Amino acid sequence: MIKVNRDVCIECMTCVTICPFTVLEESEKGIRPIKGKICIDCMHCGAVCPTDAISYKGQSAIYSDELPVIGDGFIKDLKNHVMMRRSHRHFTEEQVPREVIKDALELASWAPSAKNQHTTKWMIIESQDVMNRIMDLILDHVKKTGVSPEIATEMEIGNNVVMGTATSLLLAYADDNSISPETDTAIAMTTAELYLQAKGVGTCWAGYLKRMANTIPEIKALLPKLPEHHSFYGAFMLGYPENEEFLHIPQRFKRADIEWV
Ligand SMILES: Cc1cc2nc3c(=O)[nH]c(=O)nc-3n(C[C@H](O)[C@H](O)[C@H](O)COP(=O)(O)O)c2cc1C
Ligand code: SF4
Ligand code: SF4
Repeated sequence: MIKVNRDVCIECMTCVTICPFTVLEESEKGIRPIKGKICIDCMHCGAVCPTDAISYKGQSAIYSDELPVIGDGFIKDLKNHVMMRRSHRHFTEEQVPREVIKDALELASWAPSAKNQHTTKWMIIESQDVMNRIMDLILDHVKKTGVSPEIATEMEIGNNVVMGTATSLLLAYADDNSISPETDTAIAMTTAELYLQAKGVGTCWAGYLKRMANTIPEIKALLPKLPEHHSFYGAFMLGYPENEEFLHIPQRFKRADIEWV
């Protein structure tokens, strides 16, 4: 729960107004949280406070004192970056440095999350041996069950549709009982992906891998044990793109289909 430092609070009421669950009230003892109200730890109260009067578990509620300045060309750059993001499947042998991946996942902590729960956690597979063993298990599963037969037929002609030629794989897992594990994970991954591609890293959403990692127990056995009631909700192929220079933005034939009500 948050705390308000009365010594610096100027009772401007801004935090009271911004709080999404009306947790804060003015009282004889100053601004304080109302007992029994749901606080989602979003720190919006701290982010609007002009005197940094709000703390959470002994720490300031704000990340940094100053707001970053966004440059004039930002809107155009953002639009271009979103349109130039592509799914990459062919990669060089160069490993993506852990620092770059870590920075991307740190940034993803600022993505929206249902009730600010942020239950998504990450596993990065860098071992080529583990990746090969996972691929073998997937191919066995496909042959035994007949599910997604294209995985095997493509592999026979040297095209790995599960992991491309990735140098590492990212697996995202989350609490099945959280409010929106699938959506929260997708938004966090989207945020991370935009950052990674801005840093020159190639990414591709690995839907087959996510599904198979949840379906095939032997894959789970190769990886650190998931906490109880957790599942994989997303996966990426990662690496530096090789021979994948997109000369144009591809056409999107299905575009914003909107009904205004
Ligand atoms: C899947 C999802 C559902 C959400 N649903 C609601 C909602 O119904 N009402 C609401 O006020 N905020 C909702 N939010 C917003 C979150 O509470 C918010 O992202 C979180 O508190 C973090 O705050 P921020 O987005 O300002 O960083 C939702 C967010 C997500 C990702
Ligand atoms: S952290 Fe968010 S929910 Fe909690 S009191 Fe502050 S604004 Fe309200
Ligand atoms: S925003 Fe800060 S200064 Fe204003 S009432 Fe809230 S705690 Fe006090």
